[in-house]
Amino acid sequence: MKILGIMGSPRIKGNTDLLLDEALRGAESVGAEIEKIVVDKLKITPCREYYQCTKDGSCVIRDDMDAIYPKLLEAGGIIIASPIFFYGLTAQLKALIDRCQVLWARKYILHSLPGSARKGAFIAVGATQGRQLFDGAVLTVKYFFKAFDVEYADELLIRGVDKRGEIKEHPAALEAAFELGKRLTQKLT
Ligand SMILES: Cc1cc2nc3c(=O)[nH]c(=O)nc-3n(C[C@H](O)[C@H](O)[C@H](O)COP(=O)(O)O)c2cc1C
Repeated sequence: MKILGIMGSPRIKGNTDLLLDEALRGAESVGAEIEKIVVDKLKITPCREYYQCTKDGSCVIRDDMDAIYPKLLEAGGIIIASPIFFYGLTAQLKALIDRCQVLWARKYILHSLPGSARKGAFIAVGATQGRQLFDGAVLTVKYFFKAFDVEYADELLIRGVDKRGEIKEHPAALEAAFELGKRLTQKLT
């Protein structure tokens, strides 16, 4: 069982990165094959609305998304991890998601997306305590998953963590991330 982790923060060894590493460690502990993508290290052009995808399910832009599409379609489980930036996902992650209009077009226009039982989870961390802190990001991730038939199966949403690596002072959150990774893998096997 392959679990793909997508790390949306530009801050390496920051809170999102550490939480995702724990989740992937949890997945690995119950037998998953894991892979982690650090979106900030990739060249992903934002969607330019060329709309070739609605004609043949491909994107005319040549960049690192070429290698991401097959990974998204092959993984049995996907974990998206992001800090909250202005009540949403990071721009890096949003660019990747918007380029998945290709998958949306394959599903809803071309009906060529192979249906499969896959599951996804979302990990997010924000500095404040706002009641609606995660609402926008959760909605985006749910709709993203739906576009290529991934069920939104689990989430870990952490408030009140700001400084780089501050999550290490919250062992319960890291433990919860480990458990999320384990749970997601077990739901798939
Ligand atoms: C551009 C930017 C926007 C942010 N917007 C929010 C926000 O809307 N709400 C919030 O609670 N924290 C916000 N934060 C704080 C981050 O979510 C917080 O520092 C988080 O722990 C960073 O995670 P990381 O270490 O994985 O990058 C923002 C930080 C930045 C840099």
